[in-house]
Amino acid sequence: MLITDARLRGRDGTWDVEIVDGVFGAIARHGERTTAADDVLYDAGGHLLLEPFVDAHVHLDYANTVGSPRENQSGTLFEAIEIWADRKEQGLDTVEQVYQNALTATRWEASNGTGFIRSQVDVTDPSLTALRAILQLREDVRDWMEIQVVAFPQNTVLSYPDGPDLLVQALELGAEVVGGIPHNEATREDGIESLRIIFDLAEKYRVPVDVHCDEIDDEQSRFVEEMAAFASRSGLDAPVTASHCVAMAFYNPAYLAKLTPKLVASGIGFAVCPTENLQLQGRDLIPTPRGVAPVRHLTDAGLTVAFGQDSIADPFYSLGAGNLLRILDAGLHVGHMLTPEYLTRALDFITVNGARNLGITDRYGIAEGKPANCIVLDCESDQEAVQHQAAVLCSVHDGRVVFIREPARYTTVMDGFAGE
Ligand code: FE2
Repeated sequence: MLITDARLRGRDGTWDVEIVDGVFGAIARHGERTTAADDVLYDAGGHLLLEPFVDAHVHLDYANTVGSPRENQSGTLFEAIEIWADRKEQGLDTVEQVYQNALTATRWEASNGTGFIRSQVDVTDPSLTALRAILQLREDVRDWMEIQVVAFPQNTVLSYPDGPDLLVQALELGAEVVGGIPHNEATREDGIESLRIIFDLAEKYRVPVDVHCDEIDDEQSRFVEEMAAFASRSGLDAPVTASHCVAMAFYNPAYLAKLTPKLVASGIGFAVCPTENLQLQGRDLIPTPRGVAPVRHLTDAGLTVAFGQDSIADPFYSLGAGNLLRILDAGLHVGHMLTPEYLTRALDFITVNGARNLGITDRYGIAEGKPANCIVLDCESDQEAVQHQAAVLCSVHDGRVVFIREPARYTTVMDGFAGE
C-alpha cells in the first residue's frame, strides 16, 4: 500500500511512501513508478506527511474531573494539589471511572493527531486505583495509541506513607517510567533523597526517569541541577526528563549561565507545558512573569525540549483537549520563537523531541524499516501547520488506518468572497 503525493519535512517535492506489513517500505519521488489505484491507501494531494504527534507530558488519570469535588477557586497549583488529595480521600474514583475519563481524553488526543503519549499517573494512593485504570487503558488502545506510564508520586515520595514502596509496586505492576516531585518534599534534603531513590529505582528496573522538577515560582528551587548531577553520575542507560521546570524562568542570568553547560553535559531532556504553566504560574505577581521554562534558551543550547498538554479538564487546568498544535502555538509564543529559525522546524517540539524523551527514536520516523506510524496534515509546512492549526486528514498506526477525514468545506459562498 502507498500514501502518495505527500510532502515530507526537510525534503523538496512530493513523495510516494510505501507501507508493507505495518512497516514503511521504499520512499520514492511522486510519480516515479506506476501505481495501481487500489494500491493507494491515501492520496495526500501535496499535503504534509509526518510522524504522529507525541504528547510528552499529560496526566490521563486526572482528565475530565474538573469541578469535582470542587472548583479551583484560587486557580493555583497548590489548591489543585489539595483538591486532588481531597478527591482521593473521599474515594471518588473507581478504576472504571478513571478508565472512562482517560479513554475520552485519549480519543481526543488521537483525533488531534497524537500517536504517542507519556502519561504521568498518580501512585500516592494505597489502592493504586488510577494506575490500574491507565495500565488497562494502555493495553486496550494499543491498536491506535501508544501510552507510556510514569509512576508519579503526586503527594511526594518521602512525606507520603509508604511512598518509596508505592513506586516499587507501580513499577512491578507495569509502569515503565519512574517519576518524582522533589520541590514538594518536606525539605531540600528530602528532595535530594527522593531523587536518589528515583534514580536507584530507574537503574534497578532499567527504566527512564521523568520528574516534575521545580514547578514553583521560586528562583531558589534548583532541583534540575541535582537531576543533571544524578543523570551524569548514574549508569542509567535510559532517557532522563525534567518536566515543567518553571523556576528556570526566574533564575538569575549568572546562575542560568553556570547551570546550562551542566544540563548539556548531563544529556537530560525537558518536557514543557506552556498552556498549563501560563495559567498556573505568576498569578499574583506584577509585572506578571511568563512562568514557563526558557524554551528558546534551552533549545539554543542544544537541549531537547518537548511540549506536553499536561492537563485535560482537571483541577489544575479547566481546558485542554489533547491538541498538540494548540500547545505548540502557545509554546512558540511564550518562548519568543516566531522567527524562521524556529518556525521552519516548529513541529520538532511535538514530534521528534518528544520521541527522544520517550526513548522511542529507534522506531519513530518516516523511514524505510520503521513502524508505519504517520499523519497527514492539511498544510505544506511546519509554519503553516501552526499558523492555520492544520486539520489532521489521515492517521495511520502500525500500518493501519485509524481515520481518514475530509477537510472542512464551504457549502455556500457569497459572490466576491473567494472562500479560502
Ligand atoms: Fe505535570
